[in-house]
Amino acid sequence: MSSHGAPIPMTSRPCGPLSGQAAVPGDKSISHRSLILGALSVGKTEISGLLEGQDVLDTAAAMRAFGAEVTDHGGGNWSVHGVGVGGFAEPEQVIDCGNSGTGVRLIMGAMATSPITATFSGDASLNGRPMARVTDPLALFGTRSYGRDGGRLPMTLVGAKNPVPVEYKVPMPSAQVKSAVLLAGLNAPGQTVVIEAEATRDHTERMLAGFGASLTVEETDAGRVITLTGQPELKPQKIDVPRDPSSAAFPVCAALIVPGSDVLVPGIGLNPTRAGLFTTLRDMGADLTYENERTEGGEPVADLRARFSPNLKGIEVPSARAASMIDEYPVLSVVAAFAEGQTVMRGVKELRVKESDRIDAMAVGLRANGITVDEGPDWWTVTGRGHGKVPGGATCASHLDHRIAMSFLVLGMAAQSAVSIDDGGPIATSFPIFEPLMTGLGAALERSEA
Ligand code: S3P
Repeated sequence: MSSHGAPIPMTSRPCGPLSGQAAVPGDKSISHRSLILGALSVGKTEISGLLEGQDVLDTAAAMRAFGAEVTDHGGGNWSVHGVGVGGFAEPEQVIDCGNSGTGVRLIMGAMATSPITATFSGDASLNGRPMARVTDPLALFGTRSYGRDGGRLPMTLVGAKNPVPVEYKVPMPSAQVKSAVLLAGLNAPGQTVVIEAEATRDHTERMLAGFGASLTVEETDAGRVITLTGQPELKPQKIDVPRDPSSAAFPVCAALIVPGSDVLVPGIGLNPTRAGLFTTLRDMGADLTYENERTEGGEPVADLRARFSPNLKGIEVPSARAASMIDEYPVLSVVAAFAEGQTVMRGVKELRVKESDRIDAMAVGLRANGITVDEGPDWWTVTGRGHGKVPGGATCASHLDHRIAMSFLVLGMAAQSAVSIDDGGPIATSFPIFEPLMTGLGAALERSEA
């Protein structure tokens, strides 16, 4: 089943060169945060370029349920009339976050220090994912939570009536956990301190500062120390959401492995906490260049130009880079199948608790398509067969995971035989225009009979 409907089986056939421009949609992380921070501001936040994927639409609906006025003006232009920090109303219904871990974890943080109760649920994927990583630190503020065994959704959170500020060292590299604690800290008096040993995506910190919160970030021997002063009045903003590097990864990787391809992916944010995949591909010998480098809204941005790269080499991906490319390992493993030699990916335990167990989902599917994959609890290796030598031909399970679905469709574009997936429905959570965009470049995608 896809997250919001019947399964959509799809097939990707070997295709001719991919060429043209791939204008990918807005950044998913920034889109969620724009709606949530807009809802926590006093006045009207205007957003352009919002990702209208199901994950973000579910967050928009949630913000309405907590009392914000969220309006879709068409063409990616949205506005949010916020209720202010501490101003959330109690929702009358269960909050359905669909497939989105970012949505549910950030919203839990945002309501945790208000005197309201809310119940959260999601699809089968989200309801299997760990929530204690968020409810444990929220309990330090005084928030109570009642969920299923193993800290799973559906779950009810009772917001702290008299929240206290918190100092919390995030035990795993997770921007969602960091962000949940910071959002909860907004309505606690005094200073909330979050320490992360490894830098993860820093959109929450940047955007909180943009909305007028008082926040400092220090690099120390213990890691990044983020100090937020609670109970600010957040000021509404005009936000132009940059295009998503995690979506750009798909046309970029496809262009590198399909012979003769030359694809331009305009306006991609190259925030160092997000751009690890592109560095890794270049280390593998990819013909990937940054054109028209510029700064937009305080973030480094470039047009990415990806050309067919016949001489890709397997590498050991530095584990220090994992957090900056955590969502890109599935599609990297596809590129690795077309490289000469082994690609080694270590320090990636978090891949096992994403929308699916992404190591397992990719390992099973790649093996079925003729690729050797080895795996351990927090590492995996892909032994590349080199360009033109990847058999393909199998049908893979997408496990309600958009990035698994898109990765196998990219595999089919350059394999010797077509690759199918059981369900392309989840693609709509993050990249609703994937199919027309990729076929517009020359991919041979089709929906098959269920
Ligand atoms: C995200 C953080 C990451 C990432 C997810 C988006 C965010 O999750 O995988 O797609 O927007 O904060 P973790 O916090 O679980 O690493």
